[in-house]
Amino acid sequence: MADSLKTPEEIAGMRAAGAAAASVLEMITPYVVPGVSTAALNARCHRFIVEELGCIPAPLNYRGAPGQTPFPASVCTSVNHVVCHGIPTEGKALKRGDLLNIDVTVIKDGWHGDTSKMFIVGGTGSVLGERLSRVAQECLYLGIEAVRPGATLGDIGHVIQRHAEAQRFSVVREYCGHGIGRGFHEPPQILHYGRPGTGEVLKEGMTFTIEPMINAGRREVKLLKDGWTVVTKDHKPSAQWEHTLLVTADGAEILTRRSEETL
Ligand code: MF3
Ligand code: CO
Ligand code: CO
Repeated sequence: MADSLKTPEEIAGMRAAGAAAASVLEMITPYVVPGVSTAALNARCHRFIVEELGCIPAPLNYRGAPGQTPFPASVCTSVNHVVCHGIPTEGKALKRGDLLNIDVTVIKDGWHGDTSKMFIVGGTGSVLGERLSRVAQECLYLGIEAVRPGATLGDIGHVIQRHAEAQRFSVVREYCGHGIGRGFHEPPQILHYGRPGTGEVLKEGMTFTIEPMINAGRREVKLLKDGWTVVTKDHKPSAQWEHTLLVTADGAEILTRRSEETL
């Protein structure tokens, strides 16, 4: 299936959705402190998304596949060895040095904006945790720098994989970035590993996410019995950063850019 190329009006919708999603991560940042629960962070994000932004939290009751149990919260919160899709919980307050990913997806006027970032609770963590989070963000930025019309999906995956593995980290294979628009998860799949010059060719007007999950140890993951939480098999930490992107005439526009970012 050809991936839909956005018209200028559709791009305006995607820009607004992306900005709304980014604003949730900006809003929640000061509340990520030792002692807070991920359920409290979820509740605060939910209220902001619905009441301040007038948006819909896309994860709430989302089913990835028919028959899958609906996701029970408005954001995903993934702590330490949780790779992605962590379910916010009232138990287990966050501790100084925990590695937390908050993944926000909003629907604004029918368009999706999807973005996530890492937090090191209390500001400082282990040397490994801080390096893992930094390298995962560098992987996202390298992937974004590879985006332009004429580049291929394999070019994106390659730069991400090369950087992660040069740091002796590993790239999760089972989950990937995705086309995004009126749908949450659309084609194409954006793999975070690959070979240069392979795969689909990027075209101006495509919108998709890049969201590498980088593991400190081995790349293998396991799905917990709750049907959502994905953890590393070796229980070593994992980090992920995500942006929603638009392919422009000469590169990429980051639709979910936060003001703290200089890119
Ligand atoms: N936001 C995730 C992504 O980046 C998807 C979460 S699906 C959910 O694609 F149901 F777990 F929220
Ligand atoms: Co996504
Ligand atoms: Co996401």
